[in-house]
Amino acid sequence: MSKILISYFSASGVTKSVAEKIANAIDGYLFEIEPAVLGFPVWWYTAPTIINTFIEENNLEGKKIYVFVTSGGSSSEGSFRDLKNTYKNLNFISNKRFTGRETDEDYINWIK
Ligand SMILES: Cc1cc2nc3c(=O)[nH]c(=O)nc-3n(C[C@H](O)[C@H](O)[C@H](O)COP(=O)(O)O)c2cc1C
Repeated sequence: MSKILISYFSASGVTKSVAEKIANAIDGYLFEIEPAVLGFPVWWYTAPTIINTFIEENNLEGKKIYVFVTSGGSSSEGSFRDLKNTYKNLNFISNKRFTGRETDEDYINWIK
């Protein structure tokens, strides 16, 4: 079984709950290149700075990094753009805003 790194920051539990749903959905799936999933709440239209700290303290080079956010309504675009601009050496290949109301298939199709 392939191992997939799912990292998240969650202040009030919404992102945590989505991360757990993603983990359950993809459990047992095989991926050609082990992807990394990174989730966080949108704070002031971008990623909380703890996400920058995490990225700088962990070697994510060479991984496909699937970014998801939860938010009160803001899209993931601002966070995604900011991360791509800040970490040009990393491979942020997808961004999504999830609510937790997605199906398992939605999560699997997002990553595979
Ligand atoms: C400090 C702070 C800033 C936020 N800024 C935004 C924002 O710019 N846009 C938005 O749609 N929601 C914003 N929110 C709402 C959160 O993104 C949203 O409630 C999120 O789902 C919380 O996730 P969590 O429970 O994992 O912390 C903000 C929340 C906080 C606490």
